[in-house]
Amino acid sequence: MTTLTTAPLAPLLDRLFAEAEAPPSPATQGALARLTPAERSHLSASTTESNYRTFYGLAKDAYLAVSRETGTLLYLLARTAGARSMVEFGTSFGVSTLHLAAGLRDNGGGRIITTEFVPSKAARARENFAAGGLADLIELREGDAVQTLSRDLPGQVDLVLLDGAKGLYPAVLALLEERLRPGALVVADNADRSPEYLRRVRSAPDRYVSVPFAADVELSMRTG
Ligand SMILES: C[S@@+](CC[C@H](N)C(=O)[O-])C[C@H]1O[C@@H](n2cnc3c(N)ncnc32)[C@H](O)[C@@H]1O
Repeated sequence: MTTLTTAPLAPLLDRLFAEAEAPPSPATQGALARLTPAERSHLSASTTESNYRTFYGLAKDAYLAVSRETGTLLYLLARTAGARSMVEFGTSFGVSTLHLAAGLRDNGGGRIITTEFVPSKAARARENFAAGGLADLIELREGDAVQTLSRDLPGQVDLVLLDGAKGLYPAVLALLEERLRPGALVVADNADRSPEYLRRVRSAPDRYVSVPFAADVELSMRTG
């Protein structure tokens, strides 16, 4: 048995995925409907703070969570890498964090640093971490990742999940890069929306081995 597949986490994830898959509330739908698909993708992938803050402010009540399959993949990667030290960019309500923290628990413990700049989302994530019995493994840093991940990082990082504003993936990777141990994994959700990030991990064979994985995940391994 695993932490992922037993109570209290398994029923909690069932509820969170059901909520994530439900149609958005009229308020959320209304806020996001004011944007065209092109505006949405421009704002969410922008490197300009006012742009990405506008998008994620409008999406403040939306889960935007990883899929069940990607969540399970995160747990599997955490376990097979024996990860004890992880960093996540983009917490939302904590669905992906819970999968990674379950991996930590079953690896014997450790710490995941995760970061979120929408205060109401951070509050909901904290409730979920407590309900899942995993709060002791999770450090949630509130604020913009560009600041929160520029200080007090562990000496070694075994696994990273990038799932915040897509345009910041290269900048956030740069903050963490020197901490990645050889063999560390970097999972980037919706990486197709960050061409500069893909260039970085796919065109530096001395640093990364990288492959598109599942529907929209780029999986990379730090080589040395
Ligand atoms: C796609 S959602 C994350 C979903 C989450 N990983 C999960 O699977 O449940 C992206 C989240 O990142 C947050 N975010 C985006 N850019 C950020 C930034 N620069 N700093 C901190 N949080 C950010 C957004 O508010 C949003 O909640």
